[in-house]
Amino acid sequence: MEQRKISRAVISRLPRYYRYLGDLLEAGVERISSSDLSKKMHVTASQIRQDLNNFGGFGQQGYGYNVKYLYTEIGKILGLDRSHNFIIIGAGNLGQALANYASFERSGFILKSLFDVNPRLEGVTIRGIPVRMVDELKDFLKNNDIEIAALTLPKSKAIEVADILVDNGVKGIWNFAHTDLSLPKDVVVENVHLSDTLMKLSYNLCQQDKE
Ligand code: NAI
Repeated sequence: MEQRKISRAVISRLPRYYRYLGDLLEAGVERISSSDLSKKMHVTASQIRQDLNNFGGFGQQGYGYNVKYLYTEIGKILGLDRSHNFIIIGAGNLGQALANYASFERSGFILKSLFDVNPRLEGVTIRGIPVRMVDELKDFLKNNDIEIAALTLPKSKAIEVADILVDNGVKGIWNFAHTDLSLPKDVVVENVHLSDTLMKLSYNLCQQDKE
């Protein structure tokens, strides 16, 4: 099937579909209508149909969506049908919290190592995954097939470390350091700012107060 160019808005909604479908699959649900999925996800049935029609439409009239098929296809679109090795740079509070979250592995994101400059962290392991010193980073990247790096180090250090990562083959940066990175076009950067969602929450609370 020829795949149409999918809009960024649709792509940004796919992880949520994937999550809901994964839950349905786990609960043993084989098929679901767009209206039932719409009730579950609190989006309109027409939005669901529009979104999923981007992929040629997995729904069949009167049958609904085959949960497993849809889950698998969305997984493929999101690149979750293969595994991705990743590392974490900065093994402080946030880096360790991410490393402790085992569920990334279930989606195929395999944490291979953490890196830090603090000698007190040398030899520490998190869920069996070692923290290495940053001076080992280049060699590690040469000898391991690492696709993604999470940056959870001080923002003043993020740019220089990102350059080392990219020069040594890392193709995706999951950037938690609050600084903009300007990297070659073939490197994908996803910036995360948890506080943005907190501010959105605060905004919505304020709106409620006004009602
Ligand atoms: P932290 O101070 O607990 O951890 C930072 C770690 O980075 C330390 O272990 C430190 O030794 C290490 N480090 C320093 N220079 C390094 C280098 N050149 N290479 C490798 N590691 C190095 O700080 P925390 O709370 O874990 O935050 C880490 C970063 O993430 C900060 O930049 C913070 O602003 C950011 N952050 C971002 C959030 C977001 O939503 N985007 C949320 C929370 C923190």
